[in-house]
Amino acid sequence: MNLARSLAVLLALSLSLAARAAPPDPIEVAVDAAWEKYRTLQEGKNADYIPALARVDPKLYGISVVTVDGKVFEKGDVAARFSIQSISKVFTLASVIEHSGAKAVLDKIGVDATGQVFNSIVAIEQHKGAEMNPFVNPGAIATTSLVEGATGEEKWARILAIHEEAAGRKLTVDETVYRSEAATNGRNQAIAKLMQAYGRLYFDPGESTDIYTRQCAISVNVHDLAVMAATLANGGRNPVTGKQVVSSANVPRILAIMATAGLYDDSGIWLYQVGLPGKSGVGGGILAVAPGRFGIAVFSPPLDATGNSVRAQRAIRDVSSALDANPYSVKARKGQAP
Ligand code: DON
Repeated sequence: MNLARSLAVLLALSLSLAARAAPPDPIEVAVDAAWEKYRTLQEGKNADYIPALARVDPKLYGISVVTVDGKVFEKGDVAARFSIQSISKVFTLASVIEHSGAKAVLDKIGVDATGQVFNSIVAIEQHKGAEMNPFVNPGAIATTSLVEGATGEEKWARILAIHEEAAGRKLTVDETVYRSEAATNGRNQAIAKLMQAYGRLYFDPGESTDIYTRQCAISVNVHDLAVMAATLANGGRNPVTGKQVVSSANVPRILAIMATAGLYDDSGIWLYQVGLPGKSGVGGGILAVAPGRFGIAVFSPPLDATGNSVRAQRAIRDVSSALDANPYSVKARKGQAP
């Protein structure tokens, strides 16, 4: 054996030893397994009440996990852009709770689940616009109307800024999605007017609906959403940029509303099965927060009848279960006196 050959053999041996010494991270294993398991799943259907969403490729599928110390584990269509839709409601709420305080959210919007679909007018009628929550459209448009700023431009600048701080990068609006929804959002306009009639809207209804529609059209990829979720998992500090985006005191309040209303009227089923506060959007994204551990996001456009991405729900459930991430799941202590 000549010298070059012996060196090559030695190198191959040490590489294989190193590979054996460092087994793959359990998060990587869980992400890869969940991605593979649901890769060929064909259930669900893109949202089509916003025409531009019906045209998104239903095969796109990506998973991203970002830990509270900034490690990233991803698989699939991680760079594919899509509209954030209702997931924006989390960060617009964060802006309002930071500026106006927890009591203002409780008194002026409400935090209880409505038990109705996200764009229900019956829910408004039931409580005369009160006792909404920031994640159903009436409460969300009211939340947008409460964002700090005397003009629509000022409010929009704050909304975009908090999304960018949570994602850790500059974001833009998908103008095609924005225009498509703006041309077909008569129901949201009616919701805003009705909320105004009950004294539960805090800015011009037309402008509030327009800003809300724009925030729903913010363009993200699944990695952005995982960083945003990780920011909440990390007490409000973005683990990649180090910026404190939301005060730690407000994070549990935001997570509480995600837990009770983040997946529309299936939120109870979600919490029962997964245990992580989450938020979904009709664009096909879902993010979820494992407090103190990681943020996870999955993108896959086909939705179930409630409006939640089919693959995203299943993939997050599997990853969370594999990593024992349910914050309510605690091992019983041994040996304590009764
Ligand atoms: O207002 C709408 O209908 C959409 N822009 C967002 C809906 C969505 O993602 C689910 N809402 N909770």
